[in-house]
Amino acid sequence: MNKVAVYPGSFDPITKGHIDIINRSIFLFDKLIVGVLNNPKKNTWFTLEERVEMVKKVCKDNNKIEVRGFEGLLVDFMRENEASIIIRGLRAVSDYEYELQLSLTNSSLANNEIETIFLPASRENLYLSSSIVKEVAVHGGKLNEFMDSRLIEYVEKKVKDKEGGKKC
Ligand code: PNS
Repeated sequence: MNKVAVYPGSFDPITKGHIDIINRSIFLFDKLIVGVLNNPKKNTWFTLEERVEMVKKVCKDNNKIEVRGFEGLLVDFMRENEASIIIRGLRAVSDYEYELQLSLTNSSLANNEIETIFLPASRENLYLSSSIVKEVAVHGGKLNEFMDSRLIEYVEKKVKDKEGGKKC
């Protein structure tokens, strides 16, 4: 039986921390679906299309990975893709409570037929997040330590667009 796992997230934008989790998960499963959440209520910097494009760009060389956008409940997306394992990365202790809540809720919604597997963040990514990347970008800091070099232009362009849209 093919073991399919889903790595869900907002990926606004995808960081080296996310890429590390993806690279370590693909060894554990036959297929990994990266599920990019479209949540109209969440104020993301990047549109769903942009976020999917960025994730695809960094995953394109591995044919075990699929990248898809999704809306609504993660458990429904899992069902549509016949997947029963959710992958989440865990950084500092502060992630734990939220992640436990997500995991238990998903498990209940899926009658315990879905399991969440947590992978610890690598040491160098322990405090890395999409929010930190955006914060650094807004202040013109170097991004190459935090994200794939092919994606930096997306972030820099977004900062410029945002600055251009500012009112006096
Ligand atoms: O990268 P993020 O924003 O921490 O990812 C959160 C994500 C996408 C995993 C989570 O918000 C999610 O699964 N949302 C879909 C709605 C859902 O199923 N929520 C869980 C039950 S409340």
